[in-house]
Amino acid sequence: MENKFKRTLITSALPYANGPVHIGHLAGVYVPADIYARYLRLKGESVLFIGGSDEHGVPVTIRAKKEGCTPQDVVDRYHNLIKKSFADFGISFDVYSRTTSAIHHKFAADFFRKLYDEGKFVELESEQYYDEAEHQFLTDRNIRGECPRCHAPEAYGDQCEKCGATLSPDELINPYNAATGNPLVKRLTKHWYLPLNDYQPWLEKWILEEHKEWRPNVYGQCKSWLDGGLRPRAVTRDLDWGIPVPVEGAEGKVLYVWFDAPIGYISNTKELCDAHPELGTWQQWWQDPESRLIHFIGKDNIVFHCIVFPSMLKAHGDYNLPDNVPSNEFLNLEGDKISTSRNHAVWLNEYLEELPGKQDVLRYVLTANAPETKDNDFTWKDFQARNNNELVAVYGNFVNRALQLTQKYYNGIVPECGELTDIDKATLDEFKDVKQNVEKLLDNFKFRDAQKEAMNLARIGNKYIADEEPWKVIKTDPERVKTIIYISLQLTANLAIAFEPFLPFSSKKLREMLNMDTFRWEDLGSTTLLPAGKQLAKPSLLFEKIEDDVIQFQLDKLEATRKANLAANAKANPIKETISFDDFQKLDIRVGTVLECERVPKMKKLLKFLIDDGLNKRTIVSGISQWYEPDQLVGKQVLFVANLTPREFKNGLVSEGMILSAEDWDGTISVTTVEHNVKPGSQIS
Ligand code: 2FM
Ligand code: ZN
Repeated sequence: MENKFKRTLITSALPYANGPVHIGHLAGVYVPADIYARYLRLKGESVLFIGGSDEHGVPVTIRAKKEGCTPQDVVDRYHNLIKKSFADFGISFDVYSRTTSAIHHKFAADFFRKLYDEGKFVELESEQYYDEAEHQFLTDRNIRGECPRCHAPEAYGDQCEKCGATLSPDELINPYNAATGNPLVKRLTKHWYLPLNDYQPWLEKWILEEHKEWRPNVYGQCKSWLDGGLRPRAVTRDLDWGIPVPVEGAEGKVLYVWFDAPIGYISNTKELCDAHPELGTWQQWWQDPESRLIHFIGKDNIVFHCIVFPSMLKAHGDYNLPDNVPSNEFLNLEGDKISTSRNHAVWLNEYLEELPGKQDVLRYVLTANAPETKDNDFTWKDFQARNNNELVAVYGNFVNRALQLTQKYYNGIVPECGELTDIDKATLDEFKDVKQNVEKLLDNFKFRDAQKEAMNLARIGNKYIADEEPWKVIKTDPERVKTIIYISLQLTANLAIAFEPFLPFSSKKLREMLNMDTFRWEDLGSTTLLPAGKQLAKPSLLFEKIEDDVIQFQLDKLEATRKANLAANAKANPIKETISFDDFQKLDIRVGTVLECERVPKMKKLLKFLIDDGLNKRTIVSGISQWYEPDQLVGKQVLFVANLTPREFKNGLVSEGMILSAEDWDGTISVTTVEHNVKPGSQIS
């Protein structure tokens, strides 16, 4: 498809530099972005692929405190590790910079200042908790205190991990600084807010009417945010790690990490273009209407890239808006959520130590299983099967046969093509379509299907050589074999082009074996890529079988982590002190039927249930909206505590009881229910 834009600027989410990157990052963002960038470059289009580390934010400061080093030490360490992992996996960034760079600091501060000078922010004062000894305001996660509900001593400012209650720091009893233990006082503080509500009508038109082509998961999430009504968002924080707010009297305040990070896409482009004027100016890439902007991100970043950042760009006024935001869903690992804190992950640096040289295998499997429309699962058995049955048995086998036979019969020189049989013609016809098919899919960000099409080309070749059996025909009709090998070699050269965006390491190796100096996307489908008489290099295997013991090693490693987590969990949550039967009997736990369930306006985490308790209808409010859609529980029977003192929320809503649920180690909530339906009001004993 002809692209009507002169240039394409591809960005991929800037990963936080507070830990290494894992397969979830690669599958969700960086492999698809890289495929797209390589594809466009191969087509000869003008492309820049921008990456970098996101180095501000509270988690960096928490990690630094824990490790007794500076935040800069933390980000230096991880920035270098992440940058190396991406390079090792062939992620072909034109620039990979960082948000602690001087260029970025100045650029982001200037961006803020322009909006500030033009009155694009709203200034609001509010009371926040302050540590007088440390001279520091605290974010919700940095505040701890006694839970007002279950009286656990170490609830967070946003949630009690013991009883699951959703909290605000104001509700904690005796709040203290989580890092120092110091008591906190309330103090007035001023912040700047971007009034997203003012941009709502414009966003509704721009996204909901003009970008219906965005992936359904992206469009749907935007619609849901817009339907809920946008509110002003603070773009500054009281923190000492970040970009100082460039306003007099704003000492001790920095730009909110989600304000400065996306500006990093622009400042990194500037850094690149300033160093390489032949690429054009950064303004051409960001401001010329003939340039298009594509953001590759994971689903947790949708609101920032589709609503917040575009509003910032609109407020500024000089910038292009994203043309598309192909966001993926999440990748799970062996049926369980990838978790950094539980170390349930495949870290890219460890993968390469344990499976050296197998970058393309992982790239292939992650694309074959890409979570494009729904969350997907990575399993080591599937990894092995795809390597052995697809890369080795189809692609590798075909290429190896074609190259080995060329060596054996013709000393590695491409033979002359004789007259074509019907089968030859049909085979060539079949693979002519591949170019168009792959293009159409890549142009629509369907990487999974596009790779399948490329693999189809290998299947066509594999079938052709298996059916034609040149090793047999050589005994009866050696002239015919020349044509079979000639065609097989042309197919092989086509594979080197078709797979370049997906499997760049193998493509390079294949091109070297074929002595192909030029390769362009537009040559895909050509039957004259390797002229007769061309000398090829010595072949070697493109892919190798992966044995069971290699897979078992990985499974054992995950199992060992799982066991260590179990032990740690048992230690962290020991069985509570023994209680008497009488104490137990005080608890009145019953079965209730959910009649209605809805979200609570302005209280994002809450769901409001109307429960049939057998005698009456009662309202119970529960902080589980992150795990359940309202309609998911209607009609279900749940267990609830029927004799708990009613709890009143700030907005006047009263909860008459508590729905019981189980909390998995990673904090995932699962509501408890009964095995068979029973009468509402049935007691649990
Ligand atoms: O979710 C994340 O990992 C963020 N660091 C992504 C930032 S993307 C962009 F805005 F820089
Ligand atoms: Zn609690």
